Amino acid sequence: MFHISCVFAFQKLALYNSLPCTPLTQEKSKGRLGCLFEQSYVGIMLSGHFRDLRLMKRVRSISEAPPLYRKYHIDRDYELLSLFEQLVERYDIQSVLYPGCYVHIAPSLCIPRAVYIDCAIPAKKFFDDPMVCKYIDSMKSYRAVSKITFYHQSYEEDIAQPEESFDLLISQYAGFVSEATKKYLKKGGILVANDSHGDAGLAAIDPSFELIAVANNRNNRFVISDKNLRSYFKPKKEVQITKQFLKDHQKGLVYSKVASNYIFGKIK
Ligand SMILES: C[S@@+](CC[C@H](N)C(=O)[O-])C[C@H]1O[C@@H](n2cnc3c(N)ncnc32)[C@H](O)[C@@H]1O
Repeated sequence: MFHISCVFAFQKLALYNSLPCTPLTQEKSKGRLGCLFEQSYVGIMLSGHFRDLRLMKRVRSISEAPPLYRKYHIDRDYELLSLFEQLVERYDIQSVLYPGCYVHIAPSLCIPRAVYIDCAIPAKKFFDDPMVCKYIDSMKSYRAVSKITFYHQSYEEDIAQPEESFDLLISQYAGFVSEATKKYLKKGGILVANDSHGDAGLAAIDPSFELIAVANNRNNRFVISDKNLRSYFKPKKEVQITKQFLKDHQKGLVYSKVASNYIFGKIK
C-alpha cells in the first residue's frame, strides 16, 4: 500500500513539473528527472521504503531548487553534496566558510552554520531571494536551524566573523581562497580545495596545512582516501614550486598524480 502511494505521489510530482511520463518508455527524450523517475519506479519495486523516500526527496530537490542553483549545480551534476556529507561525518563539521561560492549552497544542506562570500552581483541577488532559505530548510539533513550569512564583497577583505571559528573552508574554482581566508579556519579544521586555479597546490606548500586525504568522484559518489598521499603534488616537469610561481601561473600545475579534491588539515 505504501509502495503504491509512493508511485502515485511520484507520478504527481512528475506531472507537477510538466514532465511527461513518457521517459518511462521513450529512451531518446529521457531527461534527468525522467531517468530518476524510471530508476525510482524500478527502485520502488525492488527495494524498501527508505530508498523510496530518498528518491522522493531527490525529485523534490530538483523541482523546488532556486533556478540558478538548479542550472549551475543540479543540472550539471555538480553539487559535491556527497563530498560535503562525508566530510561532515568524518571530521564532525558544524560550520563552513565558502569564499567564491557564487550560488553553490550545497554545504548548507548538511552543515548548520554557513558563511558565503562572493563579489558577483548575481550571487547577491541569489542570496537575497527568500527562496534560497526556504529550499535549504526543506532539504537540509540536520535538525538544527540553518544559519546562513552572505557577504557581497571580495574574500580578500575582512569579514565580521571571529577568526579560527570555522570547521571547514571550501575552495572551488575561485582563486587563492585558502591563503586569504585561512585565518577564519580553526586549528585542526579542514580545507577542501580543488586545483583548478592552483589553490590546492598552494595549500600543499603552505606550512599551515597538511594533506590528510584526497577525494575522487566515482559515479557521482565521492571516494575519500588517505593512501599514498606523498605521491600527490609532484610536478611532471622539474620546476621550483614557490608561492609566486603558482600565483603567476594562475592555474594548477601538471602533476603526475591528481585528485578531483584535496583535503587538508590546518596544523598551525
Ligand atoms: C567559477 S565561479 C565558482 C563558483 C563556485 N565556487 C562553484 O564551484 O560553483 C568563481 C566565483 O568566485 C568569485 N570570486 C573570484 N574572486 C573573488 C574574490 N576575490 N572575492 C569574492 N569572490 C570572488 C566569482 O565572483 C565567482 O562567482
